Amino acid sequence: MTTSRGPRRALIAGNWKMNPASREEAVGLANTVVRAVEDLEATTVLCPPTMWLVPVASAIDGRVGVGAQTMAAEEAGAFTGETSPLMLRGIADWVILGHSERRHYNGETDETVRRKVVSAVDHGLRPILAIGERLEERKAGATEAVIDRQLRIGLTDIRRIAGSGLVIAYEPVWAIGTGNAATGDDAQGAAAQIRGILRELDADGANEIPILYGGSVTPDNAREFFAQPEIDGALVGGASLDATAFGRIVARAAELRG
Ligand code: PGA
Repeated sequence: MTTSRGPRRALIAGNWKMNPASREEAVGLANTVVRAVEDLEATTVLCPPTMWLVPVASAIDGRVGVGAQTMAAEEAGAFTGETSPLMLRGIADWVILGHSERRHYNGETDETVRRKVVSAVDHGLRPILAIGERLEERKAGATEAVIDRQLRIGLTDIRRIAGSGLVIAYEPVWAIGTGNAATGDDAQGAAAQIRGILRELDADGANEIPILYGGSVTPDNAREFFAQPEIDGALVGGASLDATAFGRIVARAAELRG
């Protein structure tokens, strides 16, 4: 169906972070989510921890998408604890890169993220590039500058936006896991800025890139984000561990495309 958003289909990605603790729970959650979202007109992607990628991908069997939460830029070698894009291929189609928790706890810089984004694209994985300002940056009036810097550096090595499979997630750090979501207007403002930068880089290709909002998305506030013209879906953390809540968020996204 063609809408004012053009060819972009609603996209909801669930970032399970370091949950759940057992393989049985992970497979159970994945199966319950699949049943809830299977018939909805939206693309759903589940991003389990690396340990559960294989069992979740087997259980899902292509009925929804599977994404990793991070990966190394390198293909192989002495990188203790890391997962390479070659290992992910055939198991995950998507990979979250530059999540603020990776930047904060694992020392990932804009440069690290830049190398990972191009590596993902070169290996046929769809990067979900997460960007967003911290609270102190917002208070200092630096939100736009942070978005500009993280996005431009993250995409430096992408030769063509069109056909890259790229997804951008705007996630203000102060809204992640806090219950304090951004307003629809603020998220739309950031998404419009992101779309503008993408257009500068590739006037035609920019329109095919889904832009997601992330940060305390729930079934109750989801509609406010999906009603915004430049927001094509959500990156959901906490609520993605509850299949009913997550299913309702995907349903909201599907409704607004109809
Ligand atoms: P949250 O997390 O939905 O729990 O705020 C979002 C994210 O970290 O991607």
